[in-house]
Amino acid sequence: MYSDMVKEHFRNPRNVGEIDDADVILQVGEPSCGDVLLLFLKIDRGIITNVKYRIFGCGAAIATSSIASELALGKPLDEVLKLTDQDIADALGGLPEDKMHCSVLAVTALHTGIMRYLAATGEIGQ
Ligand code: FES
Repeated sequence: MYSDMVKEHFRNPRNVGEIDDADVILQVGEPSCGDVLLLFLKIDRGIITNVKYRIFGCGAAIATSSIASELALGKPLDEVLKLTDQDIADALGGLPEDKMHCSVLAVTALHTGIMRYLAATGEIGQ
């Protein structure tokens, strides 16, 4: 049912944890199942320099959060804003159709967190 990459990230999720001096702390929930992702971002000069998270969710939510953290780490904000749930699924070698919604959690958290950061720092919304 799951690809080897999904299983690997589920068993060994990357970048799990918290950032004490995070620039962004954001909680996102998936209403259909009640799973929750708490995201921490450290941002320096338009680059995501650190990503951590706590995930309370299904195996696919754990794997997609893990790969999303790897895809975001070290990347410019505008590049991360272009990430889609399909990119996350593709990076994991695919997701079962009924688990595609799980990848939305990580993408939504990243996009919302970055937009809040840009609004708070005055880089957009003026
Ligand atoms: Fe809730 Fe996967 S079933 S995020």
